[in-house]
Formats: sequence, structure tokens, C-alpha cells
Amino acid sequence: MTAKQKAVNDRRVELAGSQPPLLYPAYASTVLRAPSRPLIRLPETFSDLSAPVYGYMTVSEADADLTTQHDGAPQGERIIVAGKVVDEDGRPLAGTLIEVWQANAAGRYIHQRDQHPAPLDPNFTGAGRAITDAKGRYRFTTIKPGPYPWKNHYNAWRPAHIHFSIFGPSFLTRLVTQMYFPGDPFFPLDPIFQSIADSRARERLISKFDLDLTMPEWAVGYRFDIVLRGGSSTPFEGRA
Ligand SMILES: [Fe+2]
Repeated sequence: MTAKQKAVNDRRVELAGSQPPLLYPAYASTVLRAPSRPLIRLPETFSDLSAPVYGYMTVSEADADLTTQHDGAPQGERIIVAGKVVDEDGRPLAGTLIEVWQANAAGRYIHQRDQHPAPLDPNFTGAGRAITDAKGRYRFTTIKPGPYPWKNHYNAWRPAHIHFSIFGPSFLTRLVTQMYFPGDPFFPLDPIFQSIADSRARERLISKFDLDLTMPEWAVGYRFDIVLRGGSSTPFEGRA
């Protein structure tokens, strides 16, 4: 194998421990939901590959601004989250649907199951979407989410995060992950984050503060690039 072939190989092969396992007992709900028997590969059907994935509503530019969905501005730190979606060779993926969902600045979701005593924000729903441009780029304006308690173990708090879903051309090409913020004190204590054994892979889930993205007098910028597979792949949920 030549050095060039090895470089290509290294780029394309996913390293052990770079994806979270389906069963990770410290993350308690995986004990119930992880399959206990070998997986069965289902044949792909025509509708799996051809059914629409974007729903009934056209994706508009306004969908990427989570701070303008209501009458007033939401509470919290306004931020810009932007990046690109690339394959293992660094080629950009245009036309990829990215959906995000997150807690508000106080760490509260608008969800029946989230009843922890932090305030809801009438000006923040916490969901947005965008489609990557010709260079694979996306950009959201939102509010920095707060950490929130969860009942996985005593005094458990999630690091602040934004959930990402990345849709390719069909339902079979959907990937889900979480983006974090630099320097979060909960990283060492969070079993979801720690379930990814490879520390370099974990770090790929942490966005980077970006002064070029930051807008004066307006919003702090964080960059989060997404690599779909290969040796530098972003960790994704349920793909192990
Ligand atoms: Fe969450």
C-alpha cells in the first residue's frame, strides 16, 4: 500500500470507539432500548428510497432563525451556529435538510415530559431547519440553550446542547447527533457524551467559538462542521 493509498484508507475507515454503542449502562435508557438480539438487515423498498423527506411545508430561510418565530425576542444569549456538511473526502453535500431542536436559555423544552421548574419562554419554540447550499453550508440564528437536569442518576445534568438531524435524499439516510459548546463543565459527568470512547471523536461534537461568525453588537458565533462517515466522522446516535 502506498502512502497515498494509506491516507485515503485512514480517511475512509471509521475507528473503533468513535461512535456511541447502542448499549451503555451508565446511560440508563439504553438498557431498555438497546436490542438484545442480533440485528436483522431489512431489504430496502422503493418507497424507502423515493418517499419525500421534507414534509408538506417548503423550507424557507426564516425557518433557520429560531429567534423570530414569535412576537417578541426570546430571552438568553443570541448565537449563530453555522458549518458545513461533508463526506469522508471533504466533499460538500448540497441540498441536505438539517433540523435542530433544543431547550431554551433556562434549560426547558416545550414538551409535556419536561416538567422541571424552569420557565418556558413564550417567544421561543426551540425548533428550526435549513437546507445546505451548493457548498454544503448551513446557518442558524438561535439562543444558547441552558443545561438541564435529567433523572439518569442522582444530580444528573446534561451539558448544554442542540440536537441535529441530517437528512440525505431518503428516510434511510437520516443521521441524528448533538452539538455541544466549548468548555462545558458537565462533559466529564455526562454518560451520553462519555459513551463515545474515543476522546477525539467526542471533541468533534463540540462546536468551536468563531470570531468571524460572531456579529458585532448582535450574536456570538459557533462553528459546527458535520462529517458523515470515515475516519473523521461525526459521532451519530444509533449507528454503532
Ligand atoms: Fe436534549
